[in-house]
Amino acid sequence: MKKIVINGGRPLQGEVTISGAKNSVVALIPAIILADEVVTLDGVPDISDVASLIDIMEVMGAKVKRYEDSLEIDPSQVKNMPMPYGKINSLRASYYFYGSLLGRFGQATVGLPGGCDLGPRPIDLHLKAFEAMGAKMSYEGNAMHLATDQAGLHGAVIYMDTVSVGATINTMLAAVKAKGRTIIENAAREPEIIDVATLLNNMGAHIRGAGTDIITIEGVDKLHGTRHQVIPDRIEAGTYIALAAAVGKGIQINNVLYEHLEGFLAKLEEMGVRMTVSEDSVYVEEQANLKAINIKTAPYPGFATDLQQPLTPLLLKAKGQGTIIDTIYEKRVNHVAELAKMSGQIKTDKNKIIYQGPNDLQGAAVKATDLRAGAALVIAGLLAQGQTQISNIEFILRGYSNIIEKLTQLGADIRLVED
Ligand code: UD1
Repeated sequence: MKKIVINGGRPLQGEVTISGAKNSVVALIPAIILADEVVTLDGVPDISDVASLIDIMEVMGAKVKRYEDSLEIDPSQVKNMPMPYGKINSLRASYYFYGSLLGRFGQATVGLPGGCDLGPRPIDLHLKAFEAMGAKMSYEGNAMHLATDQAGLHGAVIYMDTVSVGATINTMLAAVKAKGRTIIENAAREPEIIDVATLLNNMGAHIRGAGTDIITIEGVDKLHGTRHQVIPDRIEAGTYIALAAAVGKGIQINNVLYEHLEGFLAKLEEMGVRMTVSEDSVYVEEQANLKAINIKTAPYPGFATDLQQPLTPLLLKAKGQGTIIDTIYEKRVNHVAELAKMSGQIKTDKNKIIYQGPNDLQGAAVKATDLRAGAALVIAGLLAQGQTQISNIEFILRGYSNIIEKLTQLGADIRLVED
């Protein structure tokens, strides 16, 4: 077991470059199963979720080569084998193998997805879509078995009762090679959905409307190879922008598509954060006189639930009282108790987080209970006086590419140690 040790209170300065989007790449890799030829992804982040997906793909028979941040995957020899246990249970995104295996073989036996504990995370909408397209489902121990009859999957009109990133992408994966037309209504509009649709279309799929709430997919028989650049990670970008505002003396964040962060940047401006937004970078100045604000998360283009936790240390630095309400995951409050251990005036009241600032955070021994809570603790540790020791850091390494190296380059006193 490893932990992160931070000696806080040092101002950071310099430049950092954002990696490819985790939430895209965890769907792009399973999507490649649908092709008959080699697909290359560029801009792949160096995170443990990618390593887990590569392992799973190799077990299934894919040939995978990694060159720096590129990944070349030959899916032609992938076999349809049951994947009930192992790495599959370690990440949420393993649910994308349901869609891609169903799309390629008409059946799939895949273990139930894992991932961060943010309260209940059902997959009923994914299954409802597969059933509407002709798949039958049954439980086999720890795994879900999905199968179609001889005729295979067919197109369907699918209304999503809740806006869901995972269910929207999974339905696209199953539908691209189904017979006929599929229409997804009340689809999620996240940039990662457009990225996956772009890859699939460049492989020969016919998807229209990705990025709007109605997506139409005309099924095709075959998908071919291609090369694809993964979009920058808007959540990693938002995390470094919040970090720069909290502990920076001038930090430039490169490889940022600001259009993907408009809701987040607007809330920072409301706090009084001074920054310059350019075409593909954001420069964040040293801050003073920040004001407390209220945050309410919402599906894209609203304020991203994934950025609520990384923003919290900066909110603790601001003057006044404010609230955070996470409408996507009500139970996404695991960071609150840990920040309170660092002398933050922050508590929960039912589904609301209430904070009061400004605070002088103090280093403490804390636990990363999930990926974005972990990012919040890293920022809090950099901000706090004294030493912070963060345990359970596997969560952080699941989603933040080279975080120790990137922060060290900015001047942070941060290291990974064996527990
Ligand atoms: C994705 C992201 C995650 C992000 C979340 C919301 C990935 C790998 N993960 O997760 O980082 O926090 O979007 O932006 O991309 N729901 C149902 N039934 C379902 C599916 C979802 O009720 O079948 C509910 C969820 O409980 C949640 C809401 O819908 O309240 C949105 O979840 P969803 O967008 O599906 O999240 P994920 O795709 O799992």
